[in-house]
Amino acid sequence: MQNSTVSKTLRISKAFEKYLLDPYILKTPFFDSSFSISGKIVVEVGFGNGELITRMAKARKKDLFIGIENSEISCEKAVKRAYDMKIENVKFVRGDAKFLARELFGDKSVDLFLAFYPIPWPKKSQEGKRLFEKDFLKVVSSILKDSGKFVAVTDDAFYFEWTVNNLKELEIDHVTHTLKPIKATKYGRKWERLGRKSWSIISHPKNFEINRILEGQDLPHAHIKEISEEVVSKKLETLSTMRFRENELFVEFRGFFKGRDEYVLRVIGVDGKFPQLYYITVKRRRDGWLVRLDDIAKVFKTPAVKKSIEYVANALKN
Ligand SMILES: C[S@@+](CC[C@H](N)C(=O)[O-])C[C@H]1O[C@@H](n2cnc3c(N)ncnc32)[C@H](O)[C@@H]1O
Repeated sequence: MQNSTVSKTLRISKAFEKYLLDPYILKTPFFDSSFSISGKIVVEVGFGNGELITRMAKARKKDLFIGIENSEISCEKAVKRAYDMKIENVKFVRGDAKFLARELFGDKSVDLFLAFYPIPWPKKSQEGKRLFEKDFLKVVSSILKDSGKFVAVTDDAFYFEWTVNNLKELEIDHVTHTLKPIKATKYGRKWERLGRKSWSIISHPKNFEINRILEGQDLPHAHIKEISEEVVSKKLETLSTMRFRENELFVEFRGFFKGRDEYVLRVIGVDGKFPQLYYITVKRRRDGWLVRLDDIAKVFKTPAVKKSIEYVANALKN
């Protein structure tokens, strides 16, 4: 590799280390009452190319800005932007804001929660994908400090009405305005060029009971006393096409692979509406078998994930 390529690669990996939070290893909720900073905590979800959050961070150096975004490419662009602008007070987290807002932030921990031009998902069949569903609005309202605010802007009349209706049904205090598209974001400029309108929604805190589901990030595992390889193989084969449902949890096994002294099960675990695809390994040990979550895939150790390890251990024991 040429020297310039090496230094560019090093620069990029340093930037990622500095600006990206790895939610899979954080103790959650990470931003709670014990998290202390002198300034404000501002969260932007769906930050797109990151231009607004980096600009705000540059202008308000005492405050901490946290961006949550699903898209890997958007996170890369935002990291590069923050690195080039030498910003010290911004962090990005890649993932689903519906899950991360609830798990990363404790009650009353956020001063300002922002969302600009979220995807409206207009079809009835896409309703579950809409960000401003009631569960999300409950989380946002609860993680706001008493003086906090949620500010959202959309260009979609239907999505605006739908969100306002959700806020009304939850009896969350809010005000709305019709505005020109916000020029400070890429989508705002796009909607301005196309002559579209925008609507803003500003809502206030309200306490709801929030059920956070991450309880520590230890790798769940189980030990099984000596049973023959033949029995293990047979039992895992049977399990590998089974599915289980328990209250809010759903676990589906999707096949298994055999290695040397080791089996790997492919699993989908769903907690409420949050699905994860991961692997469970069953590995021969001196005194039996070790069932554990494979650490190659990044996985949140949710109740469904823990339950699936339990299903494998029970299938082998019985
Ligand atoms: C239409 S773009 C708007 C981007 C930016 N706010 C702007 O105004 O230019 C919506 C963004 O939200 C992100 N997004 C959609 N659903 C999300 C979710 N559940 N969690 C985090 N980000 C999400 C998408 O990846 C996309 O970058």
